[in-house]
Amino acid sequence: MKELTGKEVAASIYENIEIESKRLYEQFQHRPTLAVILVGSDPASMAYVSSKKKKALELGFGHKDISLPADIDENTLLSHIDDLNRDSEVDGILVQLPLPAHLDESKVINSIAAGKDVDGLHPTNMGHLVREEETFISCTPHGILKMLDYYEIETKGKHVVVIGRSAIVGKPIAALLMQKGRDATVTVCHSRTADLPSFTRSADILIVAIGRANFVTSDMVKDGAVVIDVGINRVDDASRKRGYRLTGDVDFDSVASKCTAITPVPRGVGPMTIAMLMYNTLSAAKLHMEGRK
Ligand code: GUN
Repeated sequence: MKELTGKEVAASIYENIEIESKRLYEQFQHRPTLAVILVGSDPASMAYVSSKKKKALELGFGHKDISLPADIDENTLLSHIDDLNRDSEVDGILVQLPLPAHLDESKVINSIAAGKDVDGLHPTNMGHLVREEETFISCTPHGILKMLDYYEIETKGKHVVVIGRSAIVGKPIAALLMQKGRDATVTVCHSRTADLPSFTRSADILIVAIGRANFVTSDMVKDGAVVIDVGINRVDDASRKRGYRLTGDVDFDSVASKCTAITPVPRGVGPMTIAMLMYNTLSAAKLHMEGRK
């Protein structure tokens, strides 16, 4: 069994980003700039936002932090996004999800200029993705593709089973892996799928993104499968100083021995999400400087 860690894949991506952003600066005196909007103070979201900021600053990117109260009204949030859409210094805009329930997530995401939507969630970008056209690919699915490439995991003719139908992971990864060139046969399962194990047991590659700790157990996995665990769940753990530990959607200890390859949590897919956000921000900056977006 091989453990697929994201760290070394991410490191190779950062190496290229540093070279290319230096080149961009030499040509245009512009640093790729990311604006991140956080609404409220959910601890996991705060942690993600601060890792994104740390990495942006480490890479010498410009960074704008917009922290807004949980009870902000929708129009005020939309006017912040409008300001960022018009700000020529800003290449990429990310609104950290989930948003508080009183805000309409679709309306908020749809208000981001498609050319600055480095999260790849705007309908224009998702539409391009489904049509197999060049676009911003949302960060976690994009990271999974880079991991599959790096570890030379063949998808052609393979049966990929995705558990989870979210717009941020399940739907885009399914669309990407069925594309020409990737050539997988993809089944998407979700919380209402009847007899889920009958699907997962036929998966050559099982991708799990449902946000339920240790949900996939060894009886659900075929011998020799590749398992990609997208879950990052906080589980209470009094033995840890911070009072919790992170665990995936897959019961790693029982499943690992059946797999040819599996991603651990943490250190698996997680580091790839931020790497691909930085990659998309650099791509956005290049497009803006070249006047193409
Ligand atoms: N919340 C968890 N993951 C993500 C992500 O990739 N993008 C955004 N915007 N919010 C998230």
